[in-house]
Amino acid sequence: MNNVLVIENISKHFFDDNSACKAIENVSLTLRKHEIVCLMGPSGCGKSTILRIISGLDTADSGTGNGENKEQRHSSEQVKTAMVFQDHGLFPWLSVRENIAYGLHLKVRSSSEKVDEVVSKLLVLVRMEEFAKALPHQLSGGMKQRVAVARALAVKPDILLMDEPFSALDPFTRRELQDEVLRIRDQLDTAFLIVTHNPEESAYLADRIVILTRRPATVRKEFSIPASHPRNMAHPTSIELIQDITKIIASG
Ligand SMILES: Nc1ncnc2c1ncn2[C@@H]1O[C@H](COP(=O)(O)OP(=O)(O)OP(=O)(O)O)[C@@H](O)[C@H]1O
Ligand SMILES: [Mg+2]
Repeated sequence: MNNVLVIENISKHFFDDNSACKAIENVSLTLRKHEIVCLMGPSGCGKSTILRIISGLDTADSGTGNGENKEQRHSSEQVKTAMVFQDHGLFPWLSVRENIAYGLHLKVRSSSEKVDEVVSKLLVLVRMEEFAKALPHQLSGGMKQRVAVARALAVKPDILLMDEPFSALDPFTRRELQDEVLRIRDQLDTAFLIVTHNPEESAYLADRIVILTRRPATVRKEFSIPASHPRNMAHPTSIELIQDITKIIASG
């Protein structure tokens, strides 16, 4: 079995004063090694919460996969995740090289030669070797996001969780970064779970698209996309898929 992630029937409430808000209801999700899955759904339906639960930043009230009970803990220990957010989140006072190394210094007791070696490989992987010494304010938005991806990959995650990673970028840079994801996927074993509001992005990248309902989020529809990459977005199948996704999300 090639699943790197199996979450089953997770639910989550948030409590504010005396009221409870149900964010997620019985969501099940699998992710296979090497797979790109795009997670979509209306704003506020619970997508970021699901990523936070998978990453261990938050816990589910019930269900298995990641959270409070023994079985859940066991499962979350086995899968290593890293997160990339919409806002790159780089430290402005650290160089590109130091930003990428930061996660490694924290997570691994590596010697500095080992850290240097890993960071140098990652700089090449995201094509940022010429900017190793630059500070974040000297980079374009797309370059910053590449560094954020490299920093996340430094811990060798089984799953890269990406929360609207390219939504702040212009369409051309966005496509460039989408191609980077495909290229990196070909070179590593990492699986990608990408939250996006953009149907075109999902149709371009995903092996599978999971669409959630309005809050509380449940899985509304799943599409498997067998087409190989690079995909022709002008092809009628792509156009039809984008229309279907848009219709489903708009109808909640
Ligand atoms: N820490 C929190 N405390 C209280 N409520 C929360 C908290 N985090 C999220 N929520 C609520 O849970 C619901 C889901 O939020 P979440 O951020 O997961 O949505 P989302 O699908 O990522 O939305 P968007 O597409 O706008 O980013 C929302 O109603 C939100 O208000
Ligand atoms: Mg969100």
